[in-house]
Amino acid sequence: MGLSAKQQDSGSSPRRSNGPTWELFDEQATAFEQRAGLPADYCRDIATTVVEIGRMGPDDLILEVGPGTGQIAQWFHQSFRYVGFDLSGGMLRESQRRLSDDAGNRSLIQADANSSWPLASGRARVIFSSRALHLIDHEHVAGEVFRVAAADGATLIFGRVERDRDSVRSRMAKEMNERLRRRGFEGRRGEQQNPKLVDACRRRGAEALEFREVASWNVSTSPRQSLDSWRCLTGLGGIRVPAQTRNEILNELEGWAEEEFGGLDRDFEAKESYALRFLRIPVA
Ligand SMILES: C[S@@+](CC[C@H](N)C(=O)[O-])C[C@H]1O[C@@H](n2cnc3c(N)ncnc32)[C@H](O)[C@@H]1O
Repeated sequence: MGLSAKQQDSGSSPRRSNGPTWELFDEQATAFEQRAGLPADYCRDIATTVVEIGRMGPDDLILEVGPGTGQIAQWFHQSFRYVGFDLSGGMLRESQRRLSDDAGNRSLIQADANSSWPLASGRARVIFSSRALHLIDHEHVAGEVFRVAAADGATLIFGRVERDRDSVRSRMAKEMNERLRRRGFEGRRGEQQNPKLVDACRRRGAEALEFREVASWNVSTSPRQSLDSWRCLTGLGGIRVPAQTRNEILNELEGWAEEEFGGLDRDFEAKESYALRFLRIPVA
């Protein structure tokens, strides 16, 4: 089987998720890496560590939820079977460009992680997701993880970028989310969701959560960089908000940042890292 981007439904557009997130990702697919991509130098290490943590053997299958542009997926060795699914056709097109498939055992599928996942029960040795599971209902994720997990044991692995709380990016994002909340919008923030997912998995019998930092790097960022990256999106905080509200928030933030950081163009050094958290799904 060659590499294919399939659409789960027969209609021209995929089933909608609860929120509008997929449309936002569709819009930003071509510029996603430039705006929010992972540092290219570390993606191979992330893939290697996922395979190591997942104790993958030949012919084992890895299921990736929300692979985006395939920055990590491209490094999974072709001796493993790989299924990646994402709601955004735009993101899938980007990852398809990147994933070659000599062995014919990789597939990319357009599907909504808030619906039934496109994999038969009991098939996955590893269920992996980077920076995407917080966008999906945690009880549904836990149910699907236990359904697709291989009967002789599997691992759920999820990755995210960690930032110091007092870095420019964290403080700008916190202020932006605070302003969204004051106007009655709840932005999507990873930190709030994943503990609920861990609880939901542990209630079903998953073992204790473990942690592995894969890479860390230094960044030098200015408040203006955060503002500019948000200005090129139609949404804010991962959700769709009216243009007027969005503009108001960004203008307010600009004034706040100017005062708080002593100018919008001052660069501040900060450490960022990529960490994997994982839970073992016991033998059924
Ligand atoms: C922040 S990006 C992360 C992409 C990639 N994993 C990475 O770390 O660079 C989140 C990805 O999840 C996908 N996504 C969001 N909601 C989804 C859903 N309900 N079902 C499937 N994929 C979804 C988006 O289209 C996007 O590709």
